[in-house]
Amino acid sequence: MATQGLTARKAGPLSGSVRVPGDKSISHRALMLGAMAVGETEIHGLLAGEDVLRTAAALSAMGAAVTPPAADGDPWRVAGVGVGGLAEPAGVLDMGNSGTAARLLTGLIAGHPFTAFLTGDASLVRRPMRRVMEPLERMGAAFVTRSGGRLPMAVIGPDPVLPITYALPVASAQVKSAVLLAGLNAPGLTTVIERQPTRDHSELMLRHFGAALAVSREADGSHAIALTGQPELTGRPVHVPADISSAAFPLVAALICPGSDIVLRDVGMNPRRAGLVETLREMGADIVAENARVEAGEPTADLRVRAGPLAGVSVPPQRAPAMIDEYPVLCIAAACAEGPTRMLGVGELRVKESDRIARMAEGLAACGVRVEATEDSLTVHGTGRPPPGGATVATALDHRIAMSFLVLGLATDAPVAVDDAGPIDTSFPGFAATMATLGAALRSTAAA
Ligand code: S3P
Repeated sequence: MATQGLTARKAGPLSGSVRVPGDKSISHRALMLGAMAVGETEIHGLLAGEDVLRTAAALSAMGAAVTPPAADGDPWRVAGVGVGGLAEPAGVLDMGNSGTAARLLTGLIAGHPFTAFLTGDASLVRRPMRRVMEPLERMGAAFVTRSGGRLPMAVIGPDPVLPITYALPVASAQVKSAVLLAGLNAPGLTTVIERQPTRDHSELMLRHFGAALAVSREADGSHAIALTGQPELTGRPVHVPADISSAAFPLVAALICPGSDIVLRDVGMNPRRAGLVETLREMGADIVAENARVEAGEPTADLRVRAGPLAGVSVPPQRAPAMIDEYPVLCIAAACAEGPTRMLGVGELRVKESDRIARMAEGLAACGVRVEATEDSLTVHGTGRPPPGGATVATALDHRIAMSFLVLGLATDAPVAVDDAGPIDTSFPGFAATMATLGAALRSTAAA
């Protein structure tokens, strides 16, 4: 497939107000629970990015009709089949680049007595699936995978699926959600125990659709999330806030381009997702949340962001789940900050769309930044001004690596290019247009 490079050059101050596309995590879940409900679900502001479209296509292939908006501003519609009502898909379900689609749908499928085949792109087939297979096997599901527990994979759903109590060995909302989604069709209580709190969109959305879900705190501080199986879920409207993980790119761009003053509208500010804002504020960033409100259980605000000097900080490992997707762009802020920024306990970054510790370390070094990486940490040494830039960075099928380095190139003296901007469409369709609205032009470079 032809790849399309993109180049960022030094920009003047960014200004204006934009709404980035809908939250990816919430969009996947809205489609899946809409499919499990009885009746129709209208989803307003769904992210129409490639990852979410993979989930929509897979659900359609299993009998839940998903209809795109007829006109701009209309909602997506899902005609639900009810809990346990999916049908065996005739073909292979291609999850593309999306780990969330692959892992959550594996859970959903494991709650049905049929066999489905899943695959993905060159990035996804390298990512670990054992973490979801292990609890789902305890619930009665069986799997056939490539060596190392990787896609392509057959999911063989049990009849019936068994409720379990499962303590998460890794802090992963995807694993938690896969177990809960399988538990939807299990008779009895399915309980997931998490030591470190991870994003709770599945819990909020399950309740929104009418499931009985109890969250309690254990003596050791962990959370136990108990779902009563086989509820009758009812189709409901869902309003998806703008994705904080996408807002993070213009946000950091505004911080590092002197004189910038922008507003990011309707950003989802769920505390389990907002770790980047907390970290950047510790670094001295001027970020003001205006018009704070709660929409469909999700805290939302407009973020006013103004450029200013940043100082390096140490980011504690406990914060990692609340900003796991934002470390690449935090590295860019850190590269422009004064002093070292230490990111600790971030080993999970090695199994994202790419090995993000390796890709960030390599790309930053090529742009003139001193970086130290270990198996589960990254330290970026900033000098208080943007690094020289002047490199072309390999995207490695990773949208967030691509967008991070394009943000850096808006502040460096020499341009920064990425070899393949295609993956950006998985999470942030219209990224270049959004940046252009704020005054930052990204230019296409020769197709490779
Ligand atoms: C997600 C959870 C996170 C995150 C991913 C989306 C989700 O993954 O990195 O982009 O929607 O549940 P892990 O659960 O593997 O940490």
